[in-house]
Amino acid sequence: MKGHTAQQVERPLEAVIQQYGEEAITARDFANNTLILGSPGSGKTSGVLQSLQTGMLTASPVMGGLFNTAKQDDLPSILKPIEYAGRRDDCIIINALGEYRLNWLEYARAQTPEGSNEAITVLELMRVFREMVSKTGATSKDPFWDTHVDKYCLASITLLIYAKASLSVKKMIKILHSMPRSIEDTKDEQFISRSEFMYYLNLALDNPDSENNDAFDQCVSYFLDEMVQLDQRTYSNIVASIHATLFPASIGLMATLLDDVESNFTMDMSFEGKILIIDLPSSVYHEQGNLVTSMLMYLWQKDVMKRDLSLNNRMVFSFIDEAQLTINKQTVAFSSVCRSQQAICVYATQSLAAIKVRLGHHSDHLLDQFINNCGNIYMLSSTNPDTLRLFSDLVGKDYEMRMGFNAGLDTGNHSANASEDYRYILPERIFRLLATGGPRNNYYVEAIFVTAGRTFAEGETYLRVVFDQKMLER
Ligand SMILES: Nc1ncnc2c1ncn2[C@@H]1O[C@H](COP(=O)(O)OP(=O)(O)O)[C@@H](O)[C@H]1O
Ligand SMILES: [Mg+2]
Repeated sequence: MKGHTAQQVERPLEAVIQQYGEEAITARDFANNTLILGSPGSGKTSGVLQSLQTGMLTASPVMGGLFNTAKQDDLPSILKPIEYAGRRDDCIIINALGEYRLNWLEYARAQTPEGSNEAITVLELMRVFREMVSKTGATSKDPFWDTHVDKYCLASITLLIYAKASLSVKKMIKILHSMPRSIEDTKDEQFISRSEFMYYLNLALDNPDSENNDAFDQCVSYFLDEMVQLDQRTYSNIVASIHATLFPASIGLMATLLDDVESNFTMDMSFEGKILIIDLPSSVYHEQGNLVTSMLMYLWQKDVMKRDLSLNNRMVFSFIDEAQLTINKQTVAFSSVCRSQQAICVYATQSLAAIKVRLGHHSDHLLDQFINNCGNIYMLSSTNPDTLRLFSDLVGKDYEMRMGFNAGLDTGNHSANASEDYRYILPERIFRLLATGGPRNNYYVEAIFVTAGRTFAEGETYLRVVFDQKMLER
């Protein structure tokens, strides 16, 4: 059910998204990734995001894309600019009680580039999932177990593919608990009749594609040679660690919305102007919501990377509020390529420290890479010392000449000196004092905006911009 309609639009990069006085910020500028940083309550969602969202929803040519909610009352504020733009009918709202389902493993499998291995594509998705679950990011504590989990995933996915069964983690778990412990088992009628593994193995053996097939032979050899030879203790440990990895994908919202379900929408519908809203706020669904949200984002990113711009060149956007909850290594990799694929990503977060926690230990280089890929940065009021220092650094330093003069009356000696100094163009204090919206600030949110390689009127490196929380009501 993938959309293959050719949708060529005129000059998609020229659309003006924001106008600050004389300065027009276009889709081309925003394709450079945007980061909105500020303390909780500084006005990220109701100020900057709302304004950027309104700009992109009303842009011409029409854009499609992705939204997520972070808090339970975010949906109405996302729908506000959508309704303002008259685009309520373009919305697909994915939530816990709704009708929308997407079979994540099958979806990833369909994204496999021609000539490449489907099982490996699915395994990559599962690795991102595992990374999100463990939250420790990049490096695993024990590569031995990880290798076994990978091997099992690859073998069981391959088995299901050749059995022509739709992929699901639930099935992978059933197979895990019905593997033979000896070659005799595979000849035992009773074992065969109750083993899910044997059921899929027989289906796969009936499939002519499995004949003289290296990938399938390796998969069978994993189950019937490698696993049966393990001593009971090692076997139990391996099964336990595989189960621990798969289990979170087989329960809760993952099971309701993504695993072992029939898909009734696709992420690439956004390329035709659809607006996908993932309404699984962390404040309600906690980690379960974050997992589904980040997996859908991952699949969307893969679609974007694969998109053939000669067939469809519509700009697409992705607004990621509270990005520290859903970011992963894949997001960082995507931030390097999305520009050339005409995708606009806007990340809002409280602090870089929060992103670093999600990316895990030893992620400094990933974080650097991510910030370097963010061509546009909105800095909002913050109380975090590290964030404030970063803000001052981002705006930069200025050259200052200090002059001094000493006159000694008694001795008749005079001396003059000059010293050069660099000082912050905007000291930290300025960022602390930015308006954060609400009645106290007459509903205005202030931000300092910088954009890579661009200076503004009078040679300033930054722009002070004001957002109206009531822009769609006044
Ligand atoms: N629609 C609104 N009208 C008036 N005040 C609002 C509105 N939305 C949020 N606020 C207030 O404005 C401030 C900024 O809120 P918000 O945009 O949610 O901050 P952030 O997303 O940075 O956490 C908060 O004090 C909040 O109570
Ligand atoms: Mg917010």
